[in-house]
Amino acid sequence: MKMHSVRGVVLGLGLLLLGVALLPGQGTKTDKPDAAVERTRKQTKMLDDLYKTAIVLITEHYVKGDEPAAAVAGKLLWKEMKAKGHHEVRLIDATGDPLEAGNVAVDEFEKAAIKEILGGKASVDRVVEKDGKKFLRTATIVPVVMEKCRSCHPNYKDVPKGKAIGALTYTLPIE
Ligand code: HEC
Repeated sequence: MKMHSVRGVVLGLGLLLLGVALLPGQGTKTDKPDAAVERTRKQTKMLDDLYKTAIVLITEHYVKGDEPAAAVAGKLLWKEMKAKGHHEVRLIDATGDPLEAGNVAVDEFEKAAIKEILGGKASVDRVVEKDGKKFLRTATIVPVVMEKCRSCHPNYKDVPKGKAIGALTYTLPIE
């Protein structure tokens, strides 16, 4: 290859690389917010597995008859996590007949999420802004996972296993 054609190739490559670097949406700047949302999604997934596993294990091994309810322990735990500034969790009803009147969808996100979960979705999320800060709100399905659920919740009697009777909702800061 002649010297000037090598130079031409090098120049061409240089221009190509510059072009790629200047393409909109390719820089790290635009990737950052999505990466933060993805990290928060992963964190929420871990918490969802942790809380659901804990509640099911407590119900399986420690709950005799109709007391004590693992949901009550969960609510005490979530109150502490909120007080410590970590995250917010709520266990809400999707049947229209909760044991505790306050355990229902209270805001627009939760109401919309319950509809989607009853429609067949396993989880839904949304990025929201509050006081200039961003949060990821998530709702995940709570199905009838074992027969014992029905002993305290008679309204689950005819609900097939796996079908949604409620949801866990999460609010995590996006950092
Ligand atoms: C020992 C009784 C008991 C068992 C077993 C039980 N629950 Fe509950 N559950 C409760 C009580 C009591 C509450 C309300 C707690 C509160 O808000 O203080 C509750 C609350 C809930 C709620 C929130 C809506 C509502 O009804 O208030 C959901 C959803 C729920 N339970 C699902 C389940 C599932 C799923 C299972 C099976 C894994 C289950 N429960 C097993 C007693 C029980």
